[in-house]
Amino acid sequence: MITATGLRKSYGDKVVLDGIDLSIPEGTIFSLLGPNGAGKTTTVQILSTLIPADGGTATIAGHDLARRTDDVRDAIGVTGQYSAVDKLLTGEENLLLIADLKHLSRRDGRKKTAELLERFDLVDAANKPAGAYSGGMQRRLDIAMTLVGDPRLIFLDEPTTGLDPRSRRGMWQMVRELVRDGVTIFLTTQYLEEADELADRIALLDHGKLIAEGTAEELKRLIPGGHILLTFTDTGSLDAARFALGAGVPDPDALTLQVPGDGSVRSVRDLLNRLDERGVAVAEMSVHTPDLDDVFLTLTGQKTETTA
Ligand SMILES: Nc1ncnc2c1ncn2[C@@H]1O[C@H](COP(=O)(O)OP(=O)(O)O)[C@@H](O)[C@H]1O
Ligand SMILES: [Mg+2]
Repeated sequence: MITATGLRKSYGDKVVLDGIDLSIPEGTIFSLLGPNGAGKTTTVQILSTLIPADGGTATIAGHDLARRTDDVRDAIGVTGQYSAVDKLLTGEENLLLIADLKHLSRRDGRKKTAELLERFDLVDAANKPAGAYSGGMQRRLDIAMTLVGDPRLIFLDEPTTGLDPRSRRGMWQMVRELVRDGVTIFLTTQYLEEADELADRIALLDHGKLIAEGTAEELKRLIPGGHILLTFTDTGSLDAARFALGAGVPDPDALTLQVPGDGSVRSVRDLLNRLDERGVAVAEMSVHTPDLDDVFLTLTGQKTETTA
């Protein structure tokens, strides 16, 4: 659905995208994950024909991005980081307006609008001004508006930023349903959890470069295995454990020792046996497998946003 090679974009002497390559199969969810300012919106703007790239090539749904702009526009829908919802119009009027812009007949426009209001649980609110909607309702309307033209590819630029956890989960559910209908999703997010939950493939974007790409599992395998966190009741036990194991990062304030380990039953049993032999008592133990946070931290040296 999307292939891109060497996409570049600069503003003045600031390089925003520094050679982006993408290959996204139809019917999948692709997530571009990165912190604020990484270049996510710029990538979406280029791939959705809103701004031209300075270099590189791309095809969308088989159409050359630079030469077949109208064909590309017919195939896609975009929900921006900032909503396209007109707050003075009702939900229904917003949808009818888009139907008009997409040159649907009055009858088809009404039919599509009714269908989308139903699907996005906006029937009761259809005749209220969108400005009176909750944040979650406005996002739903925004996505409904994107779907008026039956796009094969939808760009969702940070669709859940600023939403409360419940609305965020609702949005995730909606995205999954879209894919079930065969639509391809290009989703940008700052939230690792969101990419982990939704995406078939994830690319990590940092300062305009893709620093890693793969399934969540593949990305997690990029960094060394997890660790086991042991907690003790006193400093004496902590020191004895360090001595017995000959490894680990101690935190004397928290009375914990972080020991590298993959969390397998065998490695945990080994560890506890070695402590037992020396008579060291462990108060608590937890196994930590690497998550995308660890991957991002390891590859970029910075933390991303965490979800509430
Ligand atoms: N129109 C513009 N003019 C100048 N700089 C821009 C413009 N658009 C984006 N940038 C810069 O490009 C970088 C990437 O921006 P953006 O693509 O919006 O990142 P993200 O969506 O990942 O937060 C930022 O440093 C931003 O300030
Ligand atoms: Mg952005």
